[in-house]
Amino acid sequence: MTASSLSFKLAVLFVIAGMAMGIGMAASQDHSIMPAHAHLNLLGWVSLFLFGIYYERRPSLDRSRLAMIQVVIWSIGTIVLTVAVAALHLGYTAFDPVAALASLIILAAMVLFAYFVFRPARDTAASPTVRLTPAE
Ligand code: HEM
Repeated sequence: MTASSLSFKLAVLFVIAGMAMGIGMAASQDHSIMPAHAHLNLLGWVSLFLFGIYYERRPSLDRSRLAMIQVVIWSIGTIVLTVAVAALHLGYTAFDPVAALASLIILAAMVLFAYFVFRPARDTAASPTVRLTPAE
């Protein structure tokens, strides 16, 4: 499996969970876990899908083990942060260090992604976009 296909699959699972959480909040009229819902959707759906698009356009990076590791670390961090933020907003203050740890995991995954973006273009250059010109 490539990093992009893993990103897309996990992103879809995260947004289904995030939407279910949103529907649960709306139905119960209890929005106390709203920050967890927002983080799950923005880290798990939006950001992960964007990573997938970036990787898909760079085939050699997409097939690399390091890109796969980035997606896995990001996803684990997203799950742990979502649970910890929800628990915190439900009054379980003991989850504070868990949220702090998760935030560092996510930061580490973003620093790894930044390395992909900034390292020399030789390894990471986007594949040329196919341009179709209409026949005259
Ligand atoms: C079935 C789909 C969804 C439902 C039912 C839903 C429901 C909700 C509800 C009830 C709130 C709390 C609003 C408040 O207390 O002011 C909320 C907040 C939020 N949702 Fe969703 N949501 C859905 C999907 C999404 C998606 C896909 C995203 C992001 C891509 C998203 C991002 C957010 C954000 C960022 C907030 C916080 C807004 C704020 O700070 O005022 N939601 N959502």
